[in-house]
Amino acid sequence: MAFWVKHTALFVAILFVLQSYVRSEISRSIDQRKASYSKSSVVNNTDDTSRVLETVYTSRKMDCSRACTEKADCERYLYCSHDSSCKLYQDGGDCVRSGDTTGCSCYTQTIRCEDSDCTCPSGQYGEGCEATISGCITPASPYSDEHVIPEFDQSVRLWRNGTNLTYSCSPSYYPTVDWTCKANGTWQEPVCKALRKCTELNQCNPVYSEGKYVFKYPGTDHDMIVQCFTTSGWTYVPLSPYTTFSYYSTNYSASCHPKQYTCGYRYFTVIPLLITSTNVYPWGDPFFSMTDCDGPSLYRAGKNCDPECEIPEPGIFQIDLRGTGLKHKPFTLVYGQAVFSDNEQLVTASCDDCIKVCRPVAFTVLLLPAYGTDIDYTNTTRPVCLSRS
Ligand SMILES: *[C@@H]1O[C@H](CO)[C@@H](O)[C@H](O)[C@H]1NC(C)=O
Ligand SMILES: *[C@@H]1O[C@H](CO)[C@@H](O)[C@H](O)[C@H]1NC(C)=O
Ligand SMILES: *[C@@H]1O[C@H](CO)[C@@H](O)[C@H](O)[C@H]1NC(C)=O
Ligand SMILES: *[C@@H]1O[C@H](CO)[C@@H](O)[C@H](O)[C@H]1NC(C)=O
Ligand SMILES: *[C@@H]1O[C@H](CO)[C@@H](O)[C@H](O)[C@H]1NC(C)=O
Ligand SMILES: *[C@@H]1O[C@H](CO)[C@@H](O)[C@H](O)[C@H]1NC(C)=O
Repeated sequence: MAFWVKHTALFVAILFVLQSYVRSEISRSIDQRKASYSKSSVVNNTDDTSRVLETVYTSRKMDCSRACTEKADCERYLYCSHDSSCKLYQDGGDCVRSGDTTGCSCYTQTIRCEDSDCTCPSGQYGEGCEATISGCITPASPYSDEHVIPEFDQSVRLWRNGTNLTYSCSPSYYPTVDWTCKANGTWQEPVCKALRKCTELNQCNPVYSEGKYVFKYPGTDHDMIVQCFTTSGWTYVPLSPYTTFSYYSTNYSASCHPKQYTCGYRYFTVIPLLITSTNVYPWGDPFFSMTDCDGPSLYRAGKNCDPECEIPEPGIFQIDLRGTGLKHKPFTLVYGQAVFSDNEQLVTASCDDCIKVCRPVAFTVLLLPAYGTDIDYTNTTRPVCLSRS
């Protein structure tokens, strides 16, 4: 009998030592991993899309909080005192529970630091810890780029490093960099770039269609109307029919004239653009002419010197940018006179000589944003680009 008493006592003693060893292991790991929580709401609803990690049963709310802190992925917990249930979630925000929510409370992790990252004074949380957590606090608006539209769950307060937040951009802008939580707890800031070229539509929507689009003048928030074709990598400015033309005559070989006509007007419906990070240039005829013809090109004209041509006018050309959001920076001609009107959106040039070249001085034609003018948005699309995550 004494033997059993003696040995049972020994067994109990060993058990006690073991238990306290296990207990101290747990409390050591809790001590090294700290977290603070703030109270959120319990919503009575049946539709819960959050990710539950585990449900455990604890007799006190405090132990539920500890269980969440112990679990590396846990960012939120729901404790209900009436059935002692402690639900651990992988994401933050409010808790959803269908039916009776009496005695239930929800807590979301605000700050957490892991093991050796934890330099916070024991039992203290907040600013001193923020720099050492391996995660980033949810960025708040206004964001560094005003065109950013957040698409991530904004009820989550803390994101693990390496996470990319989902965002999109306002129309005519597209997302260019990942919004990444860096290892030091700061964010790689998101950037929305303005669409400036038809080829950039590929980054928005890989299968864009032909048509008129609203883009932004480089470096500004000013709209400009452009025309994109699926068959061309160029960006064009669309023109109203019959308003932009060049008058040409037979003083030059008919072979350089469209359809070999001897004289008349040639009308243009688009101007190809060269768009740099700061400027927009018409890019076609004005700088490079493959022939000696003074017409029939954009920004070029020649007087009719052929007595058989029935049009007696001097050579003229006209460029009409009204409705496009663009205007001309006034330029001078090598020969002839250019008149700018309608807020420099309309230019009419008169070239009363059939020999001298009538065109702008090379590299002086520049298109500027036409602030305060009417823009014709008929049949245009404001491109909405795909989100990035
Ligand atoms: C929860 O909502 C249901 C219907 O949506 C309602 O019948 C029930 O009374 C609500 N419970 C509480 C505790 O509000
Ligand atoms: C997250 O941070 C930890 C420690 O600061 C680092 O070891 C880990 O590589 C980081 N992970 C990523 C994806 O940056
Ligand atoms: C997040 O973005 C970074 C940087 O662009 C990238 O290297 C990483 O693969 C992305 N992570 C995920 C999960 O997509
Ligand atoms: C965080 O790291 C990035 C490089 O990944 C660095 O540019 C930035 O200055 C760092 N920020 C802080 C607050 O340490
Ligand atoms: C254009 O006309 C002038 C005189 O009218 C003439 O001298 C010149 O040779 C003509 N040019 C061409 C290419 O025919
Ligand atoms: C706009 O598009 C419709 C349908 O394609 C067309 O009928 C209409 O003429 C267009 N309007 C203008 C001003 O281009």
